[in-house]
Order: sequence, then structure tokens, then C-alpha cells
Amino acid sequence: MTRISVKVDGTTYEDEVEPRLLLVHYLRDRLGLTGTPVGCDTSNCGACTVDLDGETVKSCSVLAVQADGSAVTTIQGLAQGGEWHPLQKAFHERHALQCGYCTPGMIMAARDLLRENPVPTPDEVRHALEGNLCRCTGYQNIVRAVLAASGQEVAS
Ligand code: FES
Ligand code: FES
Repeated sequence: MTRISVKVDGTTYEDEVEPRLLLVHYLRDRLGLTGTPVGCDTSNCGACTVDLDGETVKSCSVLAVQADGSAVTTIQGLAQGGEWHPLQKAFHERHALQCGYCTPGMIMAARDLLRENPVPTPDEVRHALEGNLCRCTGYQNIVRAVLAASGQEVAS
């Protein structure tokens, strides 16, 4: 077992973990942060996307021990003071989710895009989200929601 200290959504946790434990399983099974889902076994769906020290990562492809000393933000850390993050609001208002399984990863990836490119074009949104799969194929509304969160009105 290896001792780690990791700050998740503003709270610091100290834990003993097996070196092979994936970050997503640490978040879900040890910390109970089940807002970050597991959508595949192959690191390609993006559902498990979180922010690790300012970098967007697929938490099923990172070991918990690699997050030692780091700060992780999950979908559950986005709302502030009881207010949803603008992307959460936009996804809700623009009907950008159906089953919702891909939504946490979509929002975390879109958040990363808007940090670097606050007013993206539709193509830039699509490009930024190409590592995130939606099995319900609601991509049109997802792109519209990201554009709306960036202050761009798009006809539906
Ligand atoms: S669960 Fe991580 S990429 Fe699919
Ligand atoms: S809303 Fe169902 S997978 Fe995207």
C-alpha cells in the first residue's frame, strides 16, 4: 500500500491505496464521489474526465498514486455557493443530455476548452469534445449548450 494525499473538490484526503488503483475507482469507491462515471474499459469514452492540476484527464487512465500531492476537480466540485456552473446550467437549459451518462465528462472537457478559448466556434467545440462519446448521440444540443455557456446564442 502507498500513502497519498490528494485534494478533491477542495477537500484534502489522506489515504493508503494499492499502487494499481485507478483514480476513477479511488474517487468513486473510496471517496464516494460517484458523479464521475466509468463508461468503458478502454480509455476512449471520456465519461470519467476530471481536472488534475489544471489538466483535463481521463481518470480511468491515471493511477490514484499519480494524483498524490495534486488537486483534482470533479463534476461535483463545479457548483459554487449552491449555484450551478454556467456549463451545468446551459446543458440543463439546452436539453444537452438524455441518459446523462456522458454529461460529467462532456462538461469537464468543455470547461477546459472555455478556459483556453472563451468564445469557440462550433467546429472548435466539436474538436475539443471528440474524445468524449455520447451513446445517446445528442451531440447537436451538447455543442449548442457549450456555445450558449460561452455567451453565444445559437438557434435551436
Ligand atoms: S471510463 Fe474513462 S474513458 Fe471511458
Ligand atoms: S446523454 Fe446518454 S450517453 Fe450522452
